[in-house]
Amino acid sequence: MSSFKNQNPQGRPPGFVYRESRRGLLRRGAHSALHCEGISLTRLAEKYGTPLYVYSSTSIDERLQELNRAFRDVPHTICYSVKANSNLSLLRLLAKRGCGFDVVSGGELERLLVADRKATKKVVFSGVGKTREELTAALKVGILLFNVESESELWALAECAGRLHKTAPIALRVNPDVAAETHPYISTGLHKHKFGVPIRDARALYAKASATRYLKVRGVSVHIGSQITDPRPFGEAIARVGDLVRELRADGHTIDYVDAGGGLGISYEGRQYDFSDQADSYAAALAGPMHELNAHLLLEPGRAIVGPAGVLLTTVIYKKSNDGKRFVIVDAAMNDLIRPALYGAFHEIVPIKVPTGGSDKNTVDIVGPVCETGDFFARDREFGAVEEGDLVAILDAGAYGMVLASNYNTRPRPAEVLVSGKSAKLIRRREKISDLLRPEA
Ligand code: LLP
Repeated sequence: MSSFKNQNPQGRPPGFVYRESRRGLLRRGAHSALHCEGISLTRLAEKYGTPLYVYSSTSIDERLQELNRAFRDVPHTICYSVKANSNLSLLRLLAKRGCGFDVVSGGELERLLVADRKATKKVVFSGVGKTREELTAALKVGILLFNVESESELWALAECAGRLHKTAPIALRVNPDVAAETHPYISTGLHKHKFGVPIRDARALYAKASATRYLKVRGVSVHIGSQITDPRPFGEAIARVGDLVRELRADGHTIDYVDAGGGLGISYEGRQYDFSDQADSYAAALAGPMHELNAHLLLEPGRAIVGPAGVLLTTVIYKKSNDGKRFVIVDAAMNDLIRPALYGAFHEIVPIKVPTGGSDKNTVDIVGPVCETGDFFARDREFGAVEEGDLVAILDAGAYGMVLASNYNTRPRPAEVLVSGKSAKLIRRREKISDLLRPEA
């Protein structure tokens, strides 16, 4: 019997806790082991193999509830950003909790049709390059809002809607020219970025849209970037959108929706896992400008809901030392989680078993087997002693992990498991080499 004593002094994501085994305590080599909710990650690795994505459904639920709580005074709908993690089981879980969804491709829309057809009524469709096929598919489904990102797209949408004799509900995604401190690859709110239409051009475009049959102006949308931890830029962007909404209403348009986009960051390094404070300050930044507007707020969070709710579990294959530099080679690689290689992103990495009393630390690089120097998860990291065969967990990997995984080096993508309390469900099986070869056979 485990004592299930919570040993989580480091403030790890709440779904993942170290627990000490009472049996272990009586023997030499006693240790505590990382669990996802009520299940040991060692057990999951034994059953499903590694590399393995493991998600805590309770964490996802809690984070969603925190956001809804923080925005309780503002009429709102959370449209979870499917791109962060598009596993069908997660989409189903979020749909059951009343979420809408933000999609950026026909493929993501198809996923929703499979996960929960009814959820498509609360879909917003963003993206700078929606094709006519994708627009037509979304028109047929009957989504909530098209976030149109250019004049050309507006005419393409009008043409597709006309062909179907259906009216397309639209918002223009405006670019507010607000700087947000984040990685340059995921900052989107400046005029030099490809996203949206410049806010000063919006009025003229709204006038054209409302004069067009089969287009119906419903809202304004904005998204300034991702992994933004300071709430101020969100407030600035919404204040600018608020000014535009007033102008548009004065011009005679009906603006029912303000879509504030996504982008709320998480704490990869700071170990601040009390999400309620963060959700509160995010809501406070948006609430002021929103209260005056009397519009329904749409939010498109992705990372903030699923990021800390997932880990990538991996096994140490080898240890080696090259001229004194130590490497820990694990069985996950950049194809499974590309964030460190692509953005130089930091992910905390922890051993699954920690000896009671701790262990010596070494400075190591934790790397994968792919043939690129960029294939690393951590560089010059202080890391407790691990042996070949040991398991480690790469934390905060629930968002932009599996969705960005590839088959580089002909590596099958990992399996995914969803944990709820003491039960675990395989929500995507591990790929086989034959899955990879089939389209070429
Ligand atoms: N809405 C729009 C229009 C977006 O472009 C995005 C993200 C979101 C919502 C959701 O943002 P979130 O709440 O997850 O920050 N691969 C990068 C992140 C790319 C984000 C792209 N757009 C990463 O791993 O950090």
